Amino acid sequence: MKIVILTLSDRGYRGEREDKSGPTIAEFMKKMGAEIIAQDILPDDAPVISDKLVYYADELQADLVLTTGGTGFSPRDFTPEATKKIIDREVPGFAEAMRQESLKITPHAMLSRATSGIRGRTLIINLPGSPKACRECLETIKPALPHGLEVLRGQVDSCATE
Ligand code: MTE
Repeated sequence: MKIVILTLSDRGYRGEREDKSGPTIAEFMKKMGAEIIAQDILPDDAPVISDKLVYYADELQADLVLTTGGTGFSPRDFTPEATKKIIDREVPGFAEAMRQESLKITPHAMLSRATSGIRGRTLIINLPGSPKACRECLETIKPALPHGLEVLRGQVDSCATE
């Protein structure tokens, strides 16, 4: 699976804070056999984020884009809006599962507005900003990711054969 990791953080983009979440996701996904074809940091600027997501899907043809950060309540948290703007189809299950499992760990899981969706043949999933939250959420979605991506790529027809 060809994946892109995108960190959304004004301070990270300006070099004022080290991005620990991007590398955490990279480490986790490499263990799953993923090939990282791009890894970027962008400011919390909705149009800029949307444009980059379109580039990853349409030009790079990534199988999966994992974003981290910008899903909360701060006035500059726009990742879910930027994602919703460019997806063709919503995939609520990933965000639902992440919130459900994360609530067993912290009530603050309610504060993540993360969303997920499909653009073309690219699955885009928002993760919260902290490395700990990224690891926890990836553990939750890990069992469903490979099959979902196979169906999206047309490698298997559907789930009907199970
Ligand atoms: N989910 C998990 N699994 N673990 C966490 O520690 N932190 C929460 C939440 N989701 C957390 C989590 C917190 S504190 C916030 S504010 C929201 O994610 C949004 O984070 P973000 O704005 O960095 O994206």
